[in-house]
Amino acid sequence: MIDLTTTLCGIKLSNPLVLASGVKGTDKEMLIRIAKEGAGAVTSKSCSLEPREGHENPTVLDYKYYLINAVGLSNPGVEEEIKELEYAIKNCPAPVIVSIYENSVERFVLLAKKIEKIKPVMIELDASCPNVKGKLFCSCASSAAELVSAVKKEVKIPISIKLSAAVADIGQIAKECQDAGADCITAINTIPCMAIDVWARKPILTNKYGGLSGQAIFPIALRAVNQIREYCTIPIIGGGGVYSGEDAAAMLMAGANAVSVGSALYRYKFAFRKIKRELIEYMRKMNFEKISDIKFA
Ligand SMILES: Cc1cc2nc3c(=O)[nH]c(=O)nc-3n(C[C@H](O)[C@H](O)[C@H](O)COP(=O)(O)O)c2cc1C
Repeated sequence: MIDLTTTLCGIKLSNPLVLASGVKGTDKEMLIRIAKEGAGAVTSKSCSLEPREGHENPTVLDYKYYLINAVGLSNPGVEEEIKELEYAIKNCPAPVIVSIYENSVERFVLLAKKIEKIKPVMIELDASCPNVKGKLFCSCASSAAELVSAVKKEVKIPISIKLSAAVADIGQIAKECQDAGADCITAINTIPCMAIDVWARKPILTNKYGGLSGQAIFPIALRAVNQIREYCTIPIIGGGGVYSGEDAAAMLMAGANAVSVGSALYRYKFAFRKIKRELIEYMRKMNFEKISDIKFA
């Protein structure tokens, strides 16, 4: 009998697959649908204190092995979000992680305190979105740790900080976040990039620059997660380009406790069902009975 259950900061998950923040927009019905399909947990799109329009279309390019997006964190602002998130938290068959984004430590703290009231299982601090102007907290260890420690002082539920692989030493940044009180690390966010239409002779995205996700970033994500594991003992939600059960197994082997799935939803209508089935198949072939059996030989 194969047991897919796992725990993340004391939260019981029916399986380690977690919906990544934002890939399917802000629709709360989508969170419920993905949870019903079989995700172990779901993460909401990053919300901010005030509404954000985001960038003008085109904002997402879907190529064969990758996606480029510059959505720009469009969301209706925390007051609207809270109404929808409360509904999702009540009706979702899987735990809901709420992602938040702001551009200063003080505003992050204010937002986290508002979100804590609706009792998600965890708050994820989006410190690494490459598509917005303003401070990128993940880019150096001291600013990431300062953010974690300020939010931790005011909020009692577990917090995760979402990091980027586009830094010199993600392991060190994660370690300082752990020391500052982070309960979990989420890695990785999209990687800064650009696409050019040579026939039109201009950048494809209205925003010019975007964030790369999907299969192309999987090896980068694996290395980042493994580096974080070498520096940290806290749980990791590891993801970036996970499209199959074998990818999920590799991510767990690299050191993740849970595996996020995002861009794969653009390729497969029932990505969670597919990846879960393949993970079970892998475990059966390897004679593994539980998730913790998935580790380096
Ligand atoms: C269209 C789109 C929107 C995204 N929006 C967010 C967001 O609001 N907050 C966030 O933390 N990450 C956001 N991400 C990043 C994903 O959560 C994920 O970290 C990244 O896409 C890598 O994983 P993947 O290759 O499985 O998609 C977004 C990604 C995409 C493709």
